[in-house]
Amino acid sequence: MRRNVIIDCDPGHDDAIAIIVALANSEKLNVLGITTVAGNTTLDNATKNALRILEICGKDIPVSMGYSDPLLNKVQTAAFVHGESGMDGPELFEPQLKPTGKHAIEFLKETIENSLEKVTLIPLGPLTNIGVLLKTYPQLIEKIDVVSIMGGSIYGGNILPKAEFNIYQDPEAAKMVFESGVNIIMAPIEACNEGGIYFDESDKFVEGGKVSKFAYELFQYYGQYCKKNGWPYTVIYDMTAVICLLHPEYFESEPMRVTIETQGASTRGMTVCDFRGGAHIGKCEDPVTVLTHIKDRDKFVQVLFDSLKALDSQLS
Ligand code: RIB
Ligand code: CA
Repeated sequence: MRRNVIIDCDPGHDDAIAIIVALANSEKLNVLGITTVAGNTTLDNATKNALRILEICGKDIPVSMGYSDPLLNKVQTAAFVHGESGMDGPELFEPQLKPTGKHAIEFLKETIENSLEKVTLIPLGPLTNIGVLLKTYPQLIEKIDVVSIMGGSIYGGNILPKAEFNIYQDPEAAKMVFESGVNIIMAPIEACNEGGIYFDESDKFVEGGKVSKFAYELFQYYGQYCKKNGWPYTVIYDMTAVICLLHPEYFESEPMRVTIETQGASTRGMTVCDFRGGAHIGKCEDPVTVLTHIKDRDKFVQVLFDSLKALDSQLS
């Protein structure tokens, strides 16, 4: 089944790779649009980066700007990971493409309403846009097949001991999404961490075409952060939320009740995943499909390698 999808993101090195994988698999994913949100970097930077990624890939897909801050607080950008631009490393040209001028919420609403098929949303950043959309227009839920989220964690966080970056940025918006009743697949840190790309694998990207060389430059920069953390490879969190739609058979998952902590002094932004199963899950009306493992890393990362080759050959 070919899915109509909208990617909501905060590019961001791993967002960029996730977008590349989605664009390369157009026989399965019909990317209707991209919406941007502040997170890894400012909204303006994220939007320019999204436009740059599309231009490099030779795709003219509408990009609409969303919220420049979370609902309650100011965004806490992650220049320490992604650099001041949000996508340091590659040469950052001034994009020719322009955003639609529509707010992300209106673009999402119109596109979902006008789609003949149900739409799949793929949020890869803080959930501000998606939370407001579902709170404001709950009637859209029946036209959303699934929301495949990179976010949250089952046991431990990254930005804080118990909070993952995307959820932590806007826990109130995340709560709106997880309590909306929409169908959710959650790609938590733990599953994403099993799908890393070894440094010698990404070094080879330099031998490819334009898109591969762009990916090489992204990995060269972002890989330094991973090396500094002592990781054995580069973790591209966001592409997990895309690949699980292309190849669900590559994953193990569990239905879980997931609640969002918004009050905790040291746990604000935590995704409280109830993995007790059994009778406990029986009382949960809308369990979340939580990805728990990547069954085969080689097959998982091969999707990226094939995606780079596919886009390179489209441009040659
Ligand atoms: O915690 C990882 C997530 O936060 C990824 O989406 C990354 O791009 C950042 O947004
Ligand atoms: Ca992201």
